[in-house]
Amino acid sequence: MRFGTIGAGVIGQALAHHVVNAGYPITLSNSRGPHTLAGVVADLGPLASAGTAAQAAEADIVFLATQWRAATAVLDALPHWNGRVLVDTTNTLDVVDDKVIRVDIGDRTSSEIVAEHAPGARVVKAFNTLYASYIAPDPRHEAGRQVIFYAGDDADAKTTFSAILDEFGFAPVDIGALREGGRLMQVDGGPLSGLHVLEQN
Ligand SMILES: NC(=O)c1ccc[n+]([C@@H]2O[C@H](COP(=O)([O-])OP(=O)(O)OC[C@H]3O[C@@H](n4cnc5c(N)ncnc54)[C@H](OP(=O)(O)O)[C@@H]3O)[C@@H](O)[C@H]2O)c1
Repeated sequence: MRFGTIGAGVIGQALAHHVVNAGYPITLSNSRGPHTLAGVVADLGPLASAGTAAQAAEADIVFLATQWRAATAVLDALPHWNGRVLVDTTNTLDVVDDKVIRVDIGDRTSSEIVAEHAPGARVVKAFNTLYASYIAPDPRHEAGRQVIFYAGDDADAKTTFSAILDEFGFAPVDIGALREGGRLMQVDGGPLSGLHVLEQN
């Protein structure tokens, strides 16, 4: 199985570490071009490579890890997904005048919007509820495994994703469909947003 990440900042790199630690290849991409990721890729080791967003999106499982303001435009430039899995890690936040603000997306959830802009993708929402400091380290703590909530509409995609989370060492918790589950995870009032939970050993 091959992974890709669109966005290679804090979250993209944290997830890339889990991918290579589990023994899978990953292509990382950002907005400035593959050459700017040489150091990041060297740190990750031989399983990591840098590419364009389009190359990263060719993987079987692709993380969307850009800021919200870039997400739909980067997706619109990509071809049909043909059933590949797109894991949406985004939160609808933006920075204006050095302040973090919530972007008003009305009644919809962010992942529904992501799915609209990624035709043919099997979208899973995950990782957005936690600060990177909970995502990046080895999730197997003495007190238990770090819980990752995830939501999606495609049962097979969720099964695949759950198995991967388990391999990375996380405790996966399925919270339902993209709309209902996604709403629980939304940064603007979702009860799971910011909730750090360990599954006891
Ligand atoms: N940080 C957290 O604690 C945290 C936790 C959970 C979820 N999230 C969410 O996860 C997402 C990523 O957060 P982050 O903290 O990792 O952000 P970040 O450090 O700012 O990284 C964003 C990445 O997106 C890339 N990017 C921007 N435009 C792109 C494009 N057109 N094509 C490809 N890549 C592009 C940037 O590349 P360049 O640098 O080249 O512009 C950068 O690598 C956000 O939606 C955030 O809300 C963050």
